[in-house]
Amino acid sequence: MSYVKFEQQGMVVVLTIDREKALNALNDQVLDDLNAAFDQIDQDYFRCVVITGAGTKAFVAGADIAAMSKMTRCEAVKFGQKGNELFRKIAKFPLPVIAAVNGFALGGGCELSLSCDIRLASENAVFGQPETGLGITPGFGGTQRLARLIAKGMAKEMIYAGTKIKADRAYQLGLVNAVYSQKELMPAAMKLANKIAVNAPIAVRASKQALNKGLQMNMDEAVVLEEQFFSSCFESCDQKEGMTAFVEKRKHEPFENK
Ligand code: CAA
Repeated sequence: MSYVKFEQQGMVVVLTIDREKALNALNDQVLDDLNAAFDQIDQDYFRCVVITGAGTKAFVAGADIAAMSKMTRCEAVKFGQKGNELFRKIAKFPLPVIAAVNGFALGGGCELSLSCDIRLASENAVFGQPETGLGITPGFGGTQRLARLIAKGMAKEMIYAGTKIKADRAYQLGLVNAVYSQKELMPAAMKLANKIAVNAPIAVRASKQALNKGLQMNMDEAVVLEEQFFSSCFESCDQKEGMTAFVEKRKHEPFENK
């Protein structure tokens, strides 16, 4: 039995973290199952991934506190590495990943959403890094990704003071792209995923790499990197079809990832 449900909807994979009784908290098994789910994705066929949580209360309420309460330092190193390696894999996954945050996204849950490319939230979503109140630091990338995404002072407040923020505040801070009712969240996430899915996959994937790698570089190096990705697209059939269709004033054929 897996704690992660894998569903195919057209060219989009929906992964649902399904441990509702514990508000989808991340223990070793959930992390292993999520890792396995990503390994299962056929990257030639699929175009986008959506991650959400089972139920209406939580996206993910954090790493599993009961499991962590008994860990030694050595076990905590392994647990931290497991989470970080998985979240790096998600951040670097060739296909765009959207987090549909349908409730609490605390600790490891907030960090999971931060490892995704785009976050959409339901009105009842709550984001936070409450770890210092448990005697630990964030452990799955929170100290790094949150401060790179929103204003550093706010990230520091969320981490030092454990300040939780609701969906509307997360929207103001640029942490989420949009806020929907619970009912509208998944349809909106699928609409966005499908909008990505119809664009040329080679171009979308190259853009993801250019953004992720380029943002770690200085501007002189970053624009050279962009030139490489930009020019590489000119060897694709999808570029030929996309531009020829525009010139011929017709709708392009579905892109083929070639
Ligand atoms: N780990 C393990 N179990 C959790 C959990 C977590 N992070 N969050 C919730 N649960 C469990 C509860 O223990 C409870 O289980 P039982 O029914 O067996 O008692 C069940 O989920 C429902 O939770 P509550 O009864 O607490 O629900 P609530 O509505 O009263 O409160 C909540 C909801 C505010 C999210 C509260 O559950 C909460 O504060 N959870 C912990 C949030 C947290 O601190 N997360 C950070 C964890 S540390 C971390 O993530 C480290 C890291 O960076 C890697």
